[in-house]
Amino acid sequence: MPPKHDSCCSCCSGFIITTGLTALFIWLSIRVDEPKCYLDYIYVPALNKTLNSTSNSTFLFTLKLVNPNKDKGIQYDAVQLRFGLFKDLNTTRSLGNATVGRFYQGHEKTAKKPGLVVVNGVGNLTERVNGKVYFRVDFVTAVKYKILLWYTKRDQLWGGANLEIGDLGEKVGKKGVRLGNSPVMIESGALKLYGGYRALLIFLVGCTALGFT
Ligand SMILES: *[C@@H]1O[C@H](CO)[C@@H](O)[C@H](O)[C@H]1NC(C)=O
Ligand SMILES: *[C@@H]1O[C@H](CO)[C@@H](O)[C@H](O)[C@H]1NC(C)=O
Ligand SMILES: *[C@@H]1O[C@H](CO)[C@@H](O)[C@H](O)[C@H]1NC(C)=O
Ligand SMILES: *[C@@H]1O[C@H](CO)[C@@H](O)[C@H](O)[C@H]1NC(C)=O
Ligand SMILES: *[C@@H]1O[C@H](CO)[C@@H](O)[C@H](O)[C@H]1NC(C)=O
Ligand SMILES: *[C@@H]1O[C@H](CO)[C@@H](O)[C@H](O)[C@H]1NC(C)=O
Repeated sequence: MPPKHDSCCSCCSGFIITTGLTALFIWLSIRVDEPKCYLDYIYVPALNKTLNSTSNSTFLFTLKLVNPNKDKGIQYDAVQLRFGLFKDLNTTRSLGNATVGRFYQGHEKTAKKPGLVVVNGVGNLTERVNGKVYFRVDFVTAVKYKILLWYTKRDQLWGGANLEIGDLGEKVGKKGVRLGNSPVMIESGALKLYGGYRALLIFLVGCTALGFT
């Protein structure tokens, strides 16, 4: 409860508190969280051992994009995807590219975008690293955030991940793989988990911000 403005001092502190709260409110409404990009699904028929055939030169994927913002929409430019196959621990060869067309996503929405890649040239996927097949997936796009009626300027976004493809031609592990800041490298046959820490940090910052409002 603000006291009556009967002295200059309380008037002053009232002004400071109001200005502070306004600044906090503006900061909370202007501040944006980047969308999160996941490879949700991938199926490579040529690597499905129960098919007994490596001749299928296409593969399927689903990209998942999550807008974590409570009250901001996101306008995506076309999302460019690059798929590669690891030849050894730190080099890949390009398998093919795909594009997800531009689209608008409302606040707190999740979009799943399926696509198909035709493997360039002869599609033999014979390379193994420590006996396993590893793919590299990278994306690049740009986004604008919609705050009330206005759009922010464009932000460039990119990321990538390494994933192991199992004996049924699908990625190992059910969960979508975050396309984050993981380097193009497999360490001693195991996939390093990068990006999780950053996600946790954003989550904590989000909680703190919520606690303030
Ligand atoms: C693949 O080959 C195995 C053994 O040669 C056979 O048992 C199986 O039925 C084949 N699968 C298909 C889908 O042809
Ligand atoms: C792999 O091939 C088998 C045999 O055709 C099929 O039953 C199975 O669904 C395929 N795996 C996937 C992940 O589609
Ligand atoms: C390749 O696999 C895809 C996905 O399973 C399937 O739709 C397509 O018909 C297959 N193509 C050939 C030539 O077998
Ligand atoms: C890639 O791996 C090879 C050994 O497999 C190593 O000699 C080379 O330094 C590595 N390059 C980078 C950039 O890590
Ligand atoms: C995919 O795009 C990259 C550039 O973004 C290019 O270097 C590469 O050759 C392309 N791969 C295929 C298979 O077209
Ligand atoms: C692809 O695999 C087939 C069957 O294993 C083989 O005959 C052919 O030479 C391979 N092609 C390339 C470019 O490796």
